[in-house]
Amino acid sequence: MTEAYRWWQRGVVYQIYPRSFMDSNGDGIGDLPGITARLDYLQRLGVDAIWISPFYPSPMADFGYDIANYVDVDPIFGTLADFDVLLAAAHTRGLRVILDLVPNHTSDQHPWFRESRTARDNPKRDWYLWRDPGPDGGPPNNWLSNFGGSAWAWDAATGQYYLHSFVKEQPDLNLRNPAVEAAIADVMRFWLDRGVDGFRADVMHGMLKDDQWRDNPPNPHWAPNSNPYLAQLQIYSRNRPDAHPIIARMRRLVDSYPGDRVLIGEIYLPNEQLMQYYGPNLDEAHLPFNFQLIALPWSAPLVRQAVDAYEAALPPGGWPNWVLGNHDRHRLASRVGPAQARVGLLLLLTLRGTPTWYYGDEIGMQDVPIPPEQVQDPWEKNVPGLGLGRDPERTPMQWDAGPYAGFSTVPPWLPVADDYRTVNVAMEEQDPTSSLALCRAVLALRGRTPALQVGSYRAVPAGDPDVFAYLRTAGDSRWLVVLNLGPESHTCVLTDPGGTALIQVSTYLDRQGTAALSALSVRPHEGLLLECDNTLLLQTPLSPA
Ligand code: GLC
Ligand code: CA
Repeated sequence: MTEAYRWWQRGVVYQIYPRSFMDSNGDGIGDLPGITARLDYLQRLGVDAIWISPFYPSPMADFGYDIANYVDVDPIFGTLADFDVLLAAAHTRGLRVILDLVPNHTSDQHPWFRESRTARDNPKRDWYLWRDPGPDGGPPNNWLSNFGGSAWAWDAATGQYYLHSFVKEQPDLNLRNPAVEAAIADVMRFWLDRGVDGFRADVMHGMLKDDQWRDNPPNPHWAPNSNPYLAQLQIYSRNRPDAHPIIARMRRLVDSYPGDRVLIGEIYLPNEQLMQYYGPNLDEAHLPFNFQLIALPWSAPLVRQAVDAYEAALPPGGWPNWVLGNHDRHRLASRVGPAQARVGLLLLLTLRGTPTWYYGDEIGMQDVPIPPEQVQDPWEKNVPGLGLGRDPERTPMQWDAGPYAGFSTVPPWLPVADDYRTVNVAMEEQDPTSSLALCRAVLALRGRTPALQVGSYRAVPAGDPDVFAYLRTAGDSRWLVVLNLGPESHTCVLTDPGGTALIQVSTYLDRQGTAALSALSVRPHEGLLLECDNTLLLQTPLSPA
């Protein structure tokens, strides 16, 4: 029954931040051959696709999100030949490869911008967003950079400002100019022709700005000493309705290739606006990223409410997705605590929709505090002390208990976590109750259970405010997920469905067997995955890891 669904609906996406995954050549920075060397691990883990953050030539002002050449590999990460090897090796293992596409901005070192800034009448001038000063001689309007300060940088040589939604080394492209859109389409073709399985498009909701350059209004709910970017309601500098035809054309390009390529959009917007990025005829992003699980306070009623609201807001036929962590937000295990992190993983992997998780979350990696002199992230440098910096969640993958956690042979570009001797892949592979073992067990079950891959979702009453419970159903197959988001044990009273069920997985990986749903006990921070109507599986019980 799952044949009717695409791989990106059934499958699980794993995000790799290439600087920090695996260093193959002892320079302290992860690289493409490093990823290739670890593909067996990912295959064993049971994920279906990897999304790799940018590895293109870049001055690294924003660690690769400032691209100086869209169609090559930065020497730090390897070569195009290394990429081809990685892609082929992934495909041999049945793993899809999704690339990061950054259409909103380039590096200021991109030849397009270097040309654009030479003169007002340069043919590439209109490839970027140049404006005269405002009436007072200052910036053309009040728009803010995501990373602190004005979004406008002054160019003395030509007497105009250019827009940069992120750092000033990342000038925004003018996607209203058809030549720019065509150039980005060429970039997409370059990689699609090479065989990549799709793109995650960076700041998809930011690609167009107000064509009248109106000031953003203040945000009445902004708290002083919080992220200064949020002091305004960003209604004119992003999420413009006229961006949708451009996204639809990107989608048509992706769809014109054989073999089920996917277009994912990075979009930080509330449900109602987010859903517009599916397109009026489901002809825009296949998956507009849904970041709610990253942002939500971790309480059962709030999580349930958010899941139900998202499900209700989806357009007919729009496929849901859930993101638990990424390179821009603090780590799951630090947000909710190590014990709850396992509950979070079970939630991610059993909700309806495509899960995306961040490298290292499977072993319970935590944020690493970064001393001021080791800060790398431009956001933390521009807006220090508010906890906005992203270095803590970008530290090296913890592979083993050896030097530098097996990531490198020299001190890495960001420090390795103190806990790497106990929190690492090698140890967790030996431990049948580890977080890694949990992920493998759930992914293995998911892989052979249509109800978990594509079944319907329905929240059910659990009889306790700390517990979030829901059913996943496909045909006769019904699976029940019971998550205790609190620190105390509870006896749940589940009457819908009632009867007995088979516990297939506890997040502690220490119990299986039948349980009466009218009095189902869950321990502190425990999540359970139960199969209802389990006559078949009762005969072939699952091994714990
Ligand atoms: C996206 C990326 C982030 C980057 C920004 C600018 O939000 O996820 O890491 O800094 O875009 O490209
Ligand atoms: Ca390296």
